[in-house]
Amino acid sequence: MSQQIKPTHGQWSRLVFVLAATGSAIGLGNIWKFPYITGEHGGGAFVLVYLVCILAVGIPIMIGEVLMGRRGRLSPINTLGVLVKEAKASKLWKVIGYSGVLAGILIMSFYTVVAGWSVDYLLIAAQGGLQGQDADSIQAIFDNLLASPGKLLIWSSIFTLMTLLVVGFGVQAGLERAVKVLMPGLFLLLALLVGYALTLDTFIQGVHFLFDPDFSKLTADGVLVALGHAFFTLSLGMGAIMTYGSYMPEKASIGKTVLLVAFLDTLVALMAGMVIFPIVFEHALQPGSGPGLMFVTLPIAFGEMPWGVPLGTAFFMLVTFAAWSSSISLIEPGVAWLTEKGIARWPATLGIGLLCWLLSIGSVLSFNLWSGEQYQIFDTNFFDAVDWLTANIMLPLGGLLIAIFVGWVMKDSHVRKELQMKNEALYLVWRVLIRIVAPIAVVVIFASSLGWI
Ligand code: TRP
Repeated sequence: MSQQIKPTHGQWSRLVFVLAATGSAIGLGNIWKFPYITGEHGGGAFVLVYLVCILAVGIPIMIGEVLMGRRGRLSPINTLGVLVKEAKASKLWKVIGYSGVLAGILIMSFYTVVAGWSVDYLLIAAQGGLQGQDADSIQAIFDNLLASPGKLLIWSSIFTLMTLLVVGFGVQAGLERAVKVLMPGLFLLLALLVGYALTLDTFIQGVHFLFDPDFSKLTADGVLVALGHAFFTLSLGMGAIMTYGSYMPEKASIGKTVLLVAFLDTLVALMAGMVIFPIVFEHALQPGSGPGLMFVTLPIAFGEMPWGVPLGTAFFMLVTFAAWSSSISLIEPGVAWLTEKGIARWPATLGIGLLCWLLSIGSVLSFNLWSGEQYQIFDTNFFDAVDWLTANIMLPLGGLLIAIFVGWVMKDSHVRKELQMKNEALYLVWRVLIRIVAPIAVVVIFASSLGWI
């Protein structure tokens, strides 16, 4: 019986919640993925749709996820068990929790591979390997890395182990200390890099690309990718933020906290874009060149700028850490659920970790041994297919169900009690967003990308 399940964890202070949620939100999604999908989908118009999705869909659903978690106080699957009982609703809603655990494992499986690239670059940068290289030889460094399954697998395995270590010991202990130093560090370094980008003649061109909307470049697929990324970057739609919400103290204001996390997350993504695109144009690179974008643009800049070795090393170190504090939240929902079933924390962590690791082999091979057409799924390689399926289908669908659950299934009085919003008008705005705007946006974007409308 779900009522008898006891939380297997304590509670955080508000500060730790903010740090953990920001740590989860800010990651490869901001620095690696946002610039490359923006480049692929033509820039400004895509960014505008993405920002609207953050405001009208992401933030309202994030508030919903946190409040569900804090009310249920358990892993997403069991939190839903508690909440459906309270609302006398169908147990089928637990599917949000189960699909979330699956989505987390799938995302983790390719996330660790990209994080592994970052580890590799950290070492290259530290050894001065980026200095004095032209754009072609920097591209060759990336191509060589992708061509080497052994190297990719070693780095992604090391990164997976790093994540398992924190989750195994319990997210509380390590995460707090790490994130307190690392998030401000990453922010500072990005600000420095923006300063560097400002010195380039192409800075304005980069900013235009990022913020000048040209709607003729936007496709229905682009809109779906923007929506999916709003979920991905805020860690929404799979229960990660719900799990963290279950550790949130009673008194903290959910609305304000969520706004802060979403603001920081968006700021970091836009800053990354303002660094990368000026460099892209400076060296006549292609903005739409795909997942390698960050790994071929920034190294060129580090190779040229003063203090390039320490700055480049520090940058890739912080990207690795940002990815680390994100990956923790990808497997925590599944691990928390297993511990509530009575499995000890370490075996639960290792079990889920093993599953992620096995799947990650598929992503590793996507760039080399399995890059051929016979291995394609949905017309693309395994790595892209898993990314696409999770970010653009599973997360928005999970978010849709969460919005409907919070907006229509949970009792208004319970929702109000969790949110404790003093401003009634603001509450009503949120209510309209989560009940009507967010669900309709997800459905319409799905339908149009499928060509139904
Ligand atoms: N938000 C992280 C990023 O931008 C990735 C991430 C962590 C995530 N936890 C998640 C994405 C949960 C979706 C769901 O890099």
